[in-house]
Amino acid sequence: MINDIPTHRPFDAFQAFVLDCKLFWTRQMFPEVRRAYLAKVAETGAQPKTADDVRALIGADTTTEFFGWFERHQQRMKYSGRHGLAVHYAQHRDLIREELNEPLPERLLRLNPDFVQPEYYTSIDIHQHPGGVWSDETAGYVYERGAKSTAPLLNKAESLHHRLTAQVLERAGRPVRAVADLGCGFGGSTRPFYMDHPEMDVVGVELSEPCLRLAARRAMEEQATNVQFVQGDAADTGLESGRFDAVTSTMVLHEMPPSHIRQMLKESHRLLAPGGISVHLDFLVRDDPFKLFVHYGHSARNNEPFMVPLNKMDMEAAHREAGFDSVEIVPFEEMSGALAPGMTAWRFPWTLIIARKAA
Ligand SMILES: C[S@@+](CC[C@H](N)C(=O)[O-])C[C@H]1O[C@@H](n2cnc3c(N)ncnc32)[C@H](O)[C@@H]1O
Repeated sequence: MINDIPTHRPFDAFQAFVLDCKLFWTRQMFPEVRRAYLAKVAETGAQPKTADDVRALIGADTTTEFFGWFERHQQRMKYSGRHGLAVHYAQHRDLIREELNEPLPERLLRLNPDFVQPEYYTSIDIHQHPGGVWSDETAGYVYERGAKSTAPLLNKAESLHHRLTAQVLERAGRPVRAVADLGCGFGGSTRPFYMDHPEMDVVGVELSEPCLRLAARRAMEEQATNVQFVQGDAADTGLESGRFDAVTSTMVLHEMPPSHIRQMLKESHRLLAPGGISVHLDFLVRDDPFKLFVHYGHSARNNEPFMVPLNKMDMEAAHREAGFDSVEIVPFEEMSGALAPGMTAWRFPWTLIIARKAA
């Protein structure tokens, strides 16, 4: 089994180094760049409003340049090179294939052998993951392991996925009997629904076959009987209209161009029962030009080009066009204290986008 691979010390040591780099970047470098920015604002009396205004002020500073360079290269090292994730799991290809080929209960996984991936998806090595999260049979494992160092302050026991699940159930205002998790990846965002709520009918929809196969494998290991993973496009799932009390997604909108997001919102509306709730958790910066500058920089450095157009989208208009009457956009506290004024470390601008289908 892949989890039984003997500890490979150089790989573990290297990935621990990458994680430490990310932690240093998060806790030390980000506040340092922010301090330099605030000092420059005070010194010049400038009133920056946009990411470009901030770039004009501090973009050429050595600290800022190093901050960006460090982020780009630690992410590259995480995946590529001798002890990178993609290389490591490729060395264990036979074991992974064997594990994924073990028979699963039939209802767990519905793949589509004729599925054609959208072009926006195949044209980018998202997150600098060579081949993206879809093209290699080991990609689900690479992604699962890689997620551990993406936002290193997050606490697994009190995970953002559990927090989102709690928010969905609370905000639904009625029993949630069925939920669709669009863009479920390897099932991290689907798991709290199916594990903690065995009475729920849970469906995870995802483009990537390797991710879906790992998601189904993990659900089998958990002996879950109330979940199905389906290969499909979140913008056109083929699932039954009106089946779900809640439709959610986590970190998916920012991986799509706006035209696809608009389609996905229409699809969310179609899938919902009357009175059902749509909750998409993603990244939006609304207030602070410095955070905008860092976020847009992250988009470029991490090969996630659609973060910028997502941030510029008119969410109200897109939801109205999709059939919703209104939308609520609120900050999301992904861990205790994340929204407290004393939080100086870097964090993603987690945001909930919530809408309800008319009853
Ligand atoms: C950042 S991951 C998040 C995965 C999961 N929701 C989680 O929170 O762990 C984004 C996922 O969206 C998937 N994705 C991107 N575009 C999609 C689409 N049009 N339909 C379904 N899934 C999509 C990607 O394959 C990827 O697995």
